[in-house]
Amino acid sequence: MQLVNEDNITELAAARWGTARDPRLAEIMTALVRHLHDFAREVRLTEPEWMAAIQWLKATGQISDDKREEFILASDVLGLSMLVVQMNHRLDARATPATVLGPFHIAGSPELDFGADMSDGVTGAPLYIHGTVRDLDGDPVPGAVLDVWQADSEGAYEAQLEVDEARLRAKYAAREDGTYCVRTVAPLGYAIPMDGPVGDLIARTEISYFRPAHVHFLIDAPGHEPLITHLFRAGSDYLDSDVVFSTKAELVVDFVEREPGPTPDGGKSAEPWLEARYDFVLQRAK
Ligand code: BEZ
Ligand code: FE
Repeated sequence: MQLVNEDNITELAAARWGTARDPRLAEIMTALVRHLHDFAREVRLTEPEWMAAIQWLKATGQISDDKREEFILASDVLGLSMLVVQMNHRLDARATPATVLGPFHIAGSPELDFGADMSDGVTGAPLYIHGTVRDLDGDPVPGAVLDVWQADSEGAYEAQLEVDEARLRAKYAAREDGTYCVRTVAPLGYAIPMDGPVGDLIARTEISYFRPAHVHFLIDAPGHEPLITHLFRAGSDYLDSDVVFSTKAELVVDFVEREPGPTPDGGKSAEPWLEARYDFVLQRAK
């Protein structure tokens, strides 16, 4: 018979989970058991607190579905997502930094031409984001595809709305010389979803639950590390308190106000517009 007590339970449980047939799973599970037990000891976890945590996890699962990723949101606000990103993307200092994916990316966005409008009637100040996709030596990278997504002026993403068509998201192929041009509307800062278990927890703290105005990019180019990142509007509120820890100085860009006239796609705007110039720098795949 196994004699279990408070002192030996951690080693017994770790040894049991160390039998996982995949060595990596065994490593992860034994470390998880040790850290969970240490955590419970450190905070002297009570039974009501343990049950509250179980109920919180249950609610987080129950509110999640194909469109709502409450566990990603939880990981993001705990700083875990950004830690994992940084550990797994130790890029050259010249490369554009990686950030979290967030809970609102939708795969399979429509492909739009250079400078085509992904805002398609959504209200907001016209914004052109354009530049070149380059490698670490500054040479253009041909064949890059930029998957772009953002919130509307109310802070809502397509995934949060009942809509049938792609909204404020698109894929743009960079041209042979690496240049790309996205036409959209200026994003605003917004609050992360506060109507679920993550919001309930945050509401019990002094944490600012806002994100600075930004546009998301997922860039894929042959022979290069895929890059998931954001561009943030210079001067936005919350740049120094991003609730998901993703703001980096290298990703903050001026949105320059332009008079009606020629636009970077070779067209013309009859109204004032905003210009954000940005060259993404990709690192070669290992
Ligand atoms: C976002 O901006 O899409 C986002 C990222 C992480 C958590 C919540 C929202
Ligand atoms: Fe976002």
